[in-house]
Amino acid sequence: MPSVNFILKLHRHFQRTVILLATFCMVSIVISAYYLYNGYKQENELPETSSEVECGDPQLMPYKLMEMKTTKPVDPLRTDLVVLVFVESQYSTLGQDIITILESSRFQFHIEIASGKGDLPVLIDKNKGKYALIVYENILKYVSMDSWNRGLLDKYCTEYGVGVIGFHKGNENSLQSFQLKGFPFHVHSNLGVKDCCINPHSPLLHLTKPSKLEKGPLLGNDWAVFQINHTAYQPVIFAKVKAPENFPPPAALSALYATVIHDLGLHDGIQRVLFGNNLNFWLHKLIFIDAISFLSGKKLTLSLDRYILVDIDDIFVGKDGTRMNTNDVQALLDTQNLLRAQITNFTFNLGFSGKFYHTGTEEEDEGDDLLLRSVDEFWWFPHMWSHMQPHLFHNESSLVEQMILNKKFALEHGIPTDLGYAVAPHHSGVYPVHVQLYDAWKKVWNIRVTSTEEYPHLKPARYRRGFIHKNIMVLPRQTCGLFTHTIFYKEYPGGPKELDKSIQGGELFFTVVLNPISIFMTHLSNYGNDRLGLYTFVNLANFVHTWTNLKLQTLPPVQLAHKYFELFPEQKDPLWQNPCDDKRHRDIWSKEKTCDRLPKFLVVGPQKTGTTALYLFLIMHPSIISNSPSPKTFEEVQFFNRNNYHRGIDWYMDFFPTPSNVTTDFLFEKSANYFHSEEAPRRAASLIPKAKIITILIDPSDRAYSWYQHQRSHEDPAALKFSFYQVITAGPRAPSELRALQKRCLAPGWYATHIERWLTYFPPYQLLIIDGQQLRTDPSTVMDEVQKFLGVSPHYNYSEALTFDSHKGFWCQLLEEGKTKCLGKSKGRKYPPMDSECRAFLSSYYRDHNVELSKLLHKLGQPLPSWLRQELQKVR
Ligand code: A3P
Repeated sequence: MPSVNFILKLHRHFQRTVILLATFCMVSIVISAYYLYNGYKQENELPETSSEVECGDPQLMPYKLMEMKTTKPVDPLRTDLVVLVFVESQYSTLGQDIITILESSRFQFHIEIASGKGDLPVLIDKNKGKYALIVYENILKYVSMDSWNRGLLDKYCTEYGVGVIGFHKGNENSLQSFQLKGFPFHVHSNLGVKDCCINPHSPLLHLTKPSKLEKGPLLGNDWAVFQINHTAYQPVIFAKVKAPENFPPPAALSALYATVIHDLGLHDGIQRVLFGNNLNFWLHKLIFIDAISFLSGKKLTLSLDRYILVDIDDIFVGKDGTRMNTNDVQALLDTQNLLRAQITNFTFNLGFSGKFYHTGTEEEDEGDDLLLRSVDEFWWFPHMWSHMQPHLFHNESSLVEQMILNKKFALEHGIPTDLGYAVAPHHSGVYPVHVQLYDAWKKVWNIRVTSTEEYPHLKPARYRRGFIHKNIMVLPRQTCGLFTHTIFYKEYPGGPKELDKSIQGGELFFTVVLNPISIFMTHLSNYGNDRLGLYTFVNLANFVHTWTNLKLQTLPPVQLAHKYFELFPEQKDPLWQNPCDDKRHRDIWSKEKTCDRLPKFLVVGPQKTGTTALYLFLIMHPSIISNSPSPKTFEEVQFFNRNNYHRGIDWYMDFFPTPSNVTTDFLFEKSANYFHSEEAPRRAASLIPKAKIITILIDPSDRAYSWYQHQRSHEDPAALKFSFYQVITAGPRAPSELRALQKRCLAPGWYATHIERWLTYFPPYQLLIIDGQQLRTDPSTVMDEVQKFLGVSPHYNYSEALTFDSHKGFWCQLLEEGKTKCLGKSKGRKYPPMDSECRAFLSSYYRDHNVELSKLLHKLGQPLPSWLRQELQKVR
């Protein structure tokens, strides 16, 4: 029996042990779960207080009310509207992003590399501030600059009401948590953030609409947050922090975390906006644009109006299988209506090539028919009849023929023909200009507007501009990421995410944000199959509507073009470039045309300094070839200075022969009015950037007198009526004809000013300044110098080829049998010498200009001509 008892005891003991063990296990599970849970919380989230403030929280309201009370309002009249940007280096990524936004917004800026000490550029010029806003790519450079510079900058900012924007992005070497020097708050960096939201009360918000972001983490672990518990600093974007283990607890219970804060300037009178990261996050970009606007007192601001035109090109053109069937056309109509809720007056603009009508599958042909039955629902524009590139047609008449076929098609099918807009396949003929296209468009369609991505170049997109040529307004076109072959969502290049990214805060979204007018080109194929065109624009409109206060609308092309040039009148004048310098341009440049018929150098003047003599001597050289004479302006083409420029480069090139040897032949052109022209240097540098420039200088007083005599012998009525003294001394109240004559007489003699302008477009080594006096007395030495400067060969011996003609009183070309060829009667005229009174007046008039010229020549390392030395002696 004892054995039974023993077994029973053992059994009871075992039961107790099991119960005990089970209880112990349960308790330890509960305890470890508790700790595990708390531990997780501690590691990943900040104490609740930091993140409990909701975006619409009324406790944030007082900020708004206090804000304007104490800070000095920005006075935009007291500063130039230029942004001063301190970058880390020329190539730093964030610096480039900042510049990109400023450029895209068409704001002026000046870049400085931020030095460790905080050296500053000159901030004030004649009592006017040079900058309306200051941006630091790295805010630490701002807070840690030496106290002297900081004092200067702060004084400038308070005095002129200028704000500061700065960025702080931690890296592995930077402190994790620190107090920002001089600011009553902490910065925590190298963090992940999540659940961010916009403070709807922030006065900064202009473009940005404070909609609710989806909860969740933001990309990256390199965020910095500002921990604020001070009413003078207002969060613009709140965020929760995914903090690492050793993240310190917030100093006060009311602390907030923000990735962007607005220092209201209550502390020292300077408003600042600080970003706890770079501009990769699209919302930061939007807030940055708003911060510029706010801190510049709305002077550097973008309007809220946005005009969008969506072209659908290649109607009837696509390959079968890629075109629209009736369902697609119906979807197009329905979506157009849908879009009108967000884009006022939204209407698709359809470009057609009639030749390909009914060349799809049976369903697609029905799609064509439904399109034509819905003609009135859309706007229409002609493409080429057979989708040919216009630059391939050298004869205007064959272009006209093609256009007439398409017009006939339009008339037969009730397609409107009076909308005034057209587009050329592959931008061909629009830019670079194929003048035949412009003429044919006018003739057949009375085209007034077109668009291209190619002017001045495809990339960077933000530099695209418009221009007007032959009364046709050329608007810049933007890209939306859809091409003829982007047909299926899943097959979107780089994956569908790329398209969505572009729409949701990416490239496409910012194209609309930063361009007041966007013309997007899409193609027929983008509306068949997956209808990516519809997908893109519906989502884009939604996103813009959700996140911005922009007002979207569509205007018919001609009205749109007028709007464009109302906004950008300075773009009306084109700036031609060499079509062969850009591969894309070269591809759409007629094979019948060449880029070789452009000058290698220009003789730019000024008038009356010996330019014709130089011209004569130059063409004696076997390798130097001038333009053929212009029937209108005598010998000079005068392309870069005046309205001839608007005739285009075909017109200009027609003056030049095709060189037989491009390397050794030197084409040139002499137009003496280029020298003092405002436009000529910029235009010349754009078309012939490598060209050499030759100018001749004589005493500006002698030049003025010679010019006056020249006008008299051309029987200029004012020059005949007034004496030279009257001309040069005429006051502001003198008759306008006299004032005009005076200006033309004296202004070209402001040599330093004009040369400086050439030097802003051409490097000094491309410029030769000839002493006109020496050209007159010792031309062969000058011509040796010219040959060396041009690098022309063979060397031509001018001392043998020129001779002094005592009858003419000038050097002339020596012909066979001792004969001479001199310049005509109008060069080297006989007239009485200038009287001493006039000379004294002019000497004093040109004094400052001459001093400037001497400084300039000194800077260029050029010797001073003797007349200038004499004039300078008079100064002393
Ligand atoms: P004047 O006729 O007043 O003497 P441009 O050709 O630029 O209009 O300049 C004309 C001036 O060139 C003339 O002005 C003349 O003084 C100067 N010149 C210099 N060398 C010359 C030359 N070899 N033959 C004729 N004129 C010459």
